[in-house]
Parts: sequence; C-alpha cells; structure tokens
Amino acid sequence: MTEYQVIDSEQTVYRDGTIKLHGPDGFEGMRKAGRLAAEILDELTELVRPGVTTGQIDDKVREMTLDAGAVPATMGYRGYAHSCCTSINHVICHGIPSDKALKDGDIVNIDVTPLLDGWHGDTSRMFFAGEPALKARKLVDVTYECLMLGIEAASQPGARLGDIGAVIESHAKSHRYGVVQEFCGHGVGRLFHDAPEVIHTGRKGTGPLLKPGMFFTIEPMINLGRPQAKMLNDGWTAVTRDKSLSAQFEHSIAITDDGVEIFTESPKGLHQPPY
Ligand code: MF3
Ligand code: CO
Ligand code: CO
Repeated sequence: MTEYQVIDSEQTVYRDGTIKLHGPDGFEGMRKAGRLAAEILDELTELVRPGVTTGQIDDKVREMTLDAGAVPATMGYRGYAHSCCTSINHVICHGIPSDKALKDGDIVNIDVTPLLDGWHGDTSRMFFAGEPALKARKLVDVTYECLMLGIEAASQPGARLGDIGAVIESHAKSHRYGVVQEFCGHGVGRLFHDAPEVIHTGRKGTGPLLKPGMFFTIEPMINLGRPQAKMLNDGWTAVTRDKSLSAQFEHSIAITDDGVEIFTESPKGLHQPPY
C-alpha cells in the first residue's frame, strides 16, 4: 500500500518511500524556484550556438543562479562539480560540461536545478546548435510531446502514477523510438530527489493514485534507436548503447485540486526549439 504524508515546511522531511503532500508554502517555494529555473533556460537560448563550449554554458548557469540568490543543486551533489548537465547528441543525460564546443547540427539538453530558499526547481530543455538534421528535429519534437502528454495524463481526475509512463511509452513507440528505463523522474521539493520514482514506461491504471500536493518531475529520455543506456568511465555520462541520438525535456510539476501546476514553464514561451 502506498503511504502519503501531509507535510509543511516546518516538519522534518522524510525519505522512506512515502509520497509527500505539500501545502501552500511548498507551492510558493516551488513557484519561485521553478520560475528561476525556467528563466535560466530562457536566457541560454541566445548563448547556445556552434562554437560555444558546454563549460561556457555552465559558467552562465552558475552566474545566473548565484545572482538570483540561489545555488546550483548539482554542485557538490554526490561529487558532481558543475552547475548544470549538458547532454549532446547520443548522450542521454548527466553530460558533464567541458571545453568541448558545440558543432553545427548538434542537439543538446541543458538541465538546471537552482536551489532557492530551500526548494529545488528542476527542469531541462533541448537546444539546437545551428540546424540539426530532420530526423534529430523530429526526435526532439516527439520527446517534447511525450513530456506534455505525460503531464496531461497526470492532470486527469483519478490519475495514477502509471498513467504517465503509459502514455509516454505509447507515444514514443508509435514513432519507433526507444524509451530509456535506467533513469526516471522523481519527487522534488526540499529534497532534490525524493519518492516517488516516475518511470517513463508502464501501464495505465497502475501505481499510486495522484493526490493534490504531490510534487514530482517528469523527464522522459527518448532514443532514436534502442532504449539501452551505457555509463561512461567518468561515472556520470549516460549514452545510448547503439550511439543513436537521444532527447529529453523535464518539468517540475504539482498535482492540484483541478489538475496540475507546472512550476518550470518558460515565462517567455520558449517551450521547444527552434527558439
Ligand atoms: N537534474 C537532474 C535530474 O533531472 C539530476 C542531475 S544530478 C547531477 O534529476 F549530479 F548529474 F547533476
Ligand atoms: Co530531475
Ligand atoms: Co533535471
């Protein structure tokens, strides 16, 4: 049986598989952190182009985050030393910023998580460097659709957690894309990664009932080829085993009384490339 726990910010935060139900102060905190995260991605649209290094992108993310009075939650997270993740082409997730420059035609996911006043705004989008091939752009479009279909599924009355993965899997499969299973979305709030695990495959009508006050991310990783992932020796970078392209979008959302609230929606309407 799934357990739910109503919390407010004064209470101890548990990490035992219990799904938290947050109150108004949690919504306030996540609105601010989520908005900042989205604004940071909005600002990156002009920076991302061929010749820019992922290290320069990381510097910009760190500067914007600190200027806003937040800290990048990834810095020092399990030994990770950077302010964002930059995952290019066949990198699925957790690509490490470096002095490597983007090339014309690259697709890159940038994933940021400012920690603002104790709350984590976790979001990522795809960006284009120059003009990617049609098959890359199509993958990016469908991956964005997967995220939004997942959010729509979560907003239905009586929705269960498994409904999210079910709709994502079915949409990706209709395009013969692979859905990555090694990584998933997660509860978010005062903790960066909390219960529940939000997997991007599954069966409708399964899993815990979604309840108002739940905060979690949906962050499907979709591959042009096979779904399997492989870790590089740096201990972070996950790539597609078959070297096919991979795309991802992520939002932090809440279940509300009448649907969902997206905390990390772009204030500028920069939802998907080209921007
Ligand atoms: N932001 C990622 C997520 O969506 C986590 C990155 S952890 C890091 O959950 F250490 F790799 F940065
Ligand atoms: Co996340
Ligand atoms: Co993220």
